[in-house]
Amino acid sequence: MTILNILRYPDARLHKTAAPVTVFDDQLKKLARDLAETMYAAPGVGLAATQVDVHKQVIVLDVSERRDALVTLVNPEIVESSGASDIEEGCLSVPGIYEMVPRAERVRVRAHDANGNAFTLEAQGLLAVCIQHEMDHLQGKVFVEYLSQLKQTRIRARLAKQLRKSA
Ligand code: NI
Repeated sequence: MTILNILRYPDARLHKTAAPVTVFDDQLKKLARDLAETMYAAPGVGLAATQVDVHKQVIVLDVSERRDALVTLVNPEIVESSGASDIEEGCLSVPGIYEMVPRAERVRVRAHDANGNAFTLEAQGLLAVCIQHEMDHLQGKVFVEYLSQLKQTRIRARLAKQLRKSA
């Protein structure tokens, strides 16, 4: 079992763009497993490879209460979206901060699983929001970057304070 180190905002590596996966090999399967283990251990409801400094288009999610509904999306692509969500979100890279940012209420996503099988997923509510949040990570975007500069400055100050306290 491998628990990976999660980068913390405002680490510059969170702004890298992830490359599409072209080879579905054992290394990719291990990455998907490690991401899931890291997400469950945190605990969190979603994690993108970007957050563990691996810049490949892989995300894992589990929004179920029983933590038994793991979704792994490789090279995810939103093909349809509708509505407006009003769910507050948080992020393992931005601990303790919860904010609402503009998201669709429903999405249809095309992706591959870790074995390379293509599939389409229809999601709504929390799962839809999480998918959009994690896909943003793959593009180098952290959810707080939707907020005003003033709010972002305050959030960075709060996180710096948290770090000093835990040091
Ligand atoms: Ni996040």
